[in-house]
Amino acid sequence: MKAIEFCDVGFSYEEKGTFAINGLNFSVEEGEFVAVLGHNGSGKSTLARLSNGLLMPDRGVVRIFGQTATAKNLYDVRRNVGIVFQNPDNQTVASVVEDDVAFGAENIAVPREEIGVRVQEALRAVGMEEFRGATVSRLSGGQKQRVAIAGVLALRPRIMILDEATAMLDPRGRREIVDVVTRLNREEKITVVLVTHFMEEALLADRAIVMNRGEIVMTGAPAEIFRRRDALTAYNLSLPRILRICEALRRGGMEIEDTLEGETLAKEIVTCVSGQNT
Ligand SMILES: Nc1ncnc2c1ncn2[C@@H]1O[C@H](COP(=O)(O)OP(=O)(O)O)[C@@H](O)[C@H]1O
Ligand SMILES: [Mg+2]
Repeated sequence: MKAIEFCDVGFSYEEKGTFAINGLNFSVEEGEFVAVLGHNGSGKSTLARLSNGLLMPDRGVVRIFGQTATAKNLYDVRRNVGIVFQNPDNQTVASVVEDDVAFGAENIAVPREEIGVRVQEALRAVGMEEFRGATVSRLSGGQKQRVAIAGVLALRPRIMILDEATAMLDPRGRREIVDVVTRLNREEKITVVLVTHFMEEALLADRAIVMNRGEIVMTGAPAEIFRRRDALTAYNLSLPRILRICEALRRGGMEIEDTLEGETLAKEIVTCVSGQNT
């Protein structure tokens, strides 16, 4: 079953303006974890917003679980597709954690007694149960984003989109979010679309797509994509840190093969160094 399907989708922010998204065809399978890469302005956020009905295409169709997204079924689309944005401070509405998590569910008229259950479950899913009564403004960035994710989870979406949701967080906060999202995908079978400019995060996905000027220019397993150095340069993407280390070691004269595994790299270095010593 296709969770998200774009058929020849075009979208422009201005009437007769240039297309922010141009003739886009792609789909995400139910249960899949897809990373979306691309430099600034390549159309990633537009793709995310078209996927949950925040924007409607000018051309082509967007289908969510087979249902064409239209102004009439926006409600269904948004219930199925939760979205988490970049800035944690713009996504919280209540001052106490549990009220904040309940807010979206209350808005779609989930019965009172069920809201309590959903809030509890959502907070557990993001590892924030003990913070139920905490003040949102006192939390760290990573904790606030986890509260934002919990608020989306309380709507019980089948698809979760994160639009650079880790961009404003420190490494620890990023790790927290990535762990939560990976677990939701693996254990709760939630379909995940992770828009990111951290290449390390893309490595966790089943598949990555690269956008450039409103079009998809590459798609494949993340490791495969990172092998295409020429293309990455052309589309202004960086390499995961471990591959940058491999390159630096080669420049320093070591015969090191590219690897994405720290252990493998360490072994290669040891082999190289002990070879030089004998
Ligand atoms: N609200 C907006 N009004 C006008 N143009 C916009 C707006 N948002 C984005 N754009 C333009 O649409 C294109 C795609 O932007 P966006 O989807 O935000 O890219 P990304 O998320 O990859 O940085 C860019 O050229 C950008 O300038
Ligand atoms: Mg964006």
